[in-house]
Amino acid sequence: MRSARSRALRGLLVGAALVGVLPTLGAHADPAQDLKQFREYFKKKFPTVRFHNYASGFYALPGMDDYRSQWEAFNEFPPYEIGLDAGRREWETPFKNGKTYASCFVNGGKNIAQHYPYWHEATRQVRTAEMDLIDCVKHNGEERAFTTADLSKDTRARVQLANLTAAFYELSQGQRVEIDLSAPGAVAAYEEGKRFWWSRRGQLNFSCANCHMDLAGKNLGGNQPLSAALGHPVGWPAYRTVWGQLETIHQRYATCNSQVRAKPLKQGSATYNNLQLYETYLSSGLPLSAPSVRN
Ligand code: HEC
Repeated sequence: MRSARSRALRGLLVGAALVGVLPTLGAHADPAQDLKQFREYFKKKFPTVRFHNYASGFYALPGMDDYRSQWEAFNEFPPYEIGLDAGRREWETPFKNGKTYASCFVNGGKNIAQHYPYWHEATRQVRTAEMDLIDCVKHNGEERAFTTADLSKDTRARVQLANLTAAFYELSQGQRVEIDLSAPGAVAAYEEGKRFWWSRRGQLNFSCANCHMDLAGKNLGGNQPLSAALGHPVGWPAYRTVWGQLETIHQRYATCNSQVRAKPLKQGSATYNNLQLYETYLSSGLPLSAPSVRN
């Protein structure tokens, strides 16, 4: 099965025109220019797909009608409801001091997720919603499985965090992604994410761009359509039908790394945070749709 898929991958790549944009999206830090080129790339590749529809993942791409109707049927009774309900309960239940998660966030956590992940100047790092939620528990003097566990290994703890993060993102549904890269540190982190995105890795020697730009809209190994990178982060945390639970976007990244037989990085690692900053900036202007259902 695995080798059939990797043969299919090699076959697809041989037939595909390889990354025409790589040289132009090259070394220089000019996020606004990158964004323009990135949008133009997909506009040219899929002229019939309207910009805001990229928020629906690969279901928006040409030739995906069957997958799309299946997906729409799923959305009538979304399979993530149980996880999302658990997340909402966690969000609403007061800590022992009487405060709730809302107390840790500007505007009680409403309509702010479109600015995540963000550059935090005081600690000079990119911060994700997951990090702020974890710190909120700690600042209120409490502990949860997800505040102490190794989230790469402890699936239960990670899913608890994904459920809570889904409840947090739900409060900002429809808000359009807007990432602040005005600090030099933010641009440096963006550059790191960009480098990771474009680097080939693993036994298959694939970059993120090989699958999610060159091969976007193609069907990998027969039954796995590939999404366009445009819109990537806006539906996460997401419920993949094969996983049967809500998951963090870093779990998706880890799976994509494993798929090319590269070693996945740790949940919450600075490299994944920077990658998430890069991907999210490139989805600027798209509406948040998390949580969502994905194949
Ligand atoms: C071998 C091909 C392959 C490579 C390389 C790959 N991915 Fe993926 N990726 C997939 C598949 C398959 C899926 C599931 C279908 C889809 O949404 O594209 C996926 C899904 C995703 C999604 C979820 C998209 C959505 O709409 O929900 C994100 C985000 C993502 N990949 C990011 C990355 C990043 C970042 C990299 C580089 C570290 C990467 N991928 C490398 C195959 C790949």
